[in-house]
Amino acid sequence: MGWLSWLRFGCTIDCEKQPTECISENLIKRTADLMVNEGYLDAGYEYLGIDDCWLEKKRGPDGRMVPDKERFPNGMKAVADYIHSKGLKFGMYEDYGNLTCAGYPGVLGNERLDIQTFVDWEIDYLKLDGCYINPAAMDAGYPAFGKMLNDTGRQILYSCSWPAYQEDAKMLPDYSSIAEHCNMWRNWDDIEDSWASLTKIMNWFGDNQDRLAQHAGPGHWNDPDMLLIGNFGLTEDQARVQMAVWSILAAPLLMSVDLATIKPEFKAILLNKDIIAVNQDPLGKQGLRVWKKTDRGVRSRLEIWNRKLYDDTFALAFVSQRDDGIPYAASFTYDEMQLPKGEYEVKDLYKDEGVRQWNSEDKFEVRVNPSGVKFYKFIPRASSDVIKSDSGFVSD
Ligand code: DGJ
Repeated sequence: MGWLSWLRFGCTIDCEKQPTECISENLIKRTADLMVNEGYLDAGYEYLGIDDCWLEKKRGPDGRMVPDKERFPNGMKAVADYIHSKGLKFGMYEDYGNLTCAGYPGVLGNERLDIQTFVDWEIDYLKLDGCYINPAAMDAGYPAFGKMLNDTGRQILYSCSWPAYQEDAKMLPDYSSIAEHCNMWRNWDDIEDSWASLTKIMNWFGDNQDRLAQHAGPGHWNDPDMLLIGNFGLTEDQARVQMAVWSILAAPLLMSVDLATIKPEFKAILLNKDIIAVNQDPLGKQGLRVWKKTDRGVRSRLEIWNRKLYDDTFALAFVSQRDDGIPYAASFTYDEMQLPKGEYEVKDLYKDEGVRQWNSEDKFEVRVNPSGVKFYKFIPRASSDVIKSDSGFVSD
């Protein structure tokens, strides 16, 4: 969990015209302060990452990467020290090819030196992008780079873009190898700040879950990309959808938003403790889209996502992709929801509804807003509790 600059701040480099938005020491320090003071670190968001566009266009005379001299006037070690002094971890970005996607120097040919530089700066996370390199070379290149990272002895979370470029090139990525060598990996397209982009990505992860989900587990995760929550493109309902589905998917939760101006309703979604607990569930099993129905074309669709948690409870998200204005009322059997038969206590994780008792003999009724979600936790009631309450005993 953390924060990454790209989705919200992209490659904004003109600090004179956009002083609060440019990729700079100021932006990173301000974000570090807000992550701590506004409760994000306490909620679990600990990595603070700079994406592309932090470099000078030319390496230094010693061949080392040079941070932009105007935007990072004190160098990267000073930024790292500030981040660490706040109790946060420091994330950086590079690219495995000749250049980063935005045209700054990539690591190819300088791998060892660049890793040494990152270690000197005491980074804790590295996103290694895949522009300007043949995707076929990644099967050997990403593991080799990961081994060099490990050889340094410093713990650095390794985020790979390896499968994203191979999927794009219509190759079939070797997810077993990817999961062995990377801590997380971008599988597919860049997310953009819109409902259309969010649903496209959700649909792709649902459609491809049979070959993806099995590779997720503690220490190695599929990454559907950053959270859009709090920016310009999603309504509150749509933002709730992303938080719910990303939690079912056991996805890294990387915010990318201006924490100085985020509205309280979006902040509340990012800080929802019950939902974060689903996302961070210790079993680490990625959930699945277990049911879907399209009524009138793909725009009017309802789907159920289900994740089994370590304590034999289940998180279920009922997502509506309808956008015709009518809340969708529907009811489901335990079979459609892929729940074991039995009695459950059902809690609404967004707390719009009170706790319900539900028996799998009945259908479970939901009412979902257009482009919205209902997100519940299903807690099986121990059979002894059921017997006790049936026979008049009060159970705790
Ligand atoms: C492509 C990546 O997928 C994005 O997340 C971002 O890192 C850009 N490159 C940066 O150029």
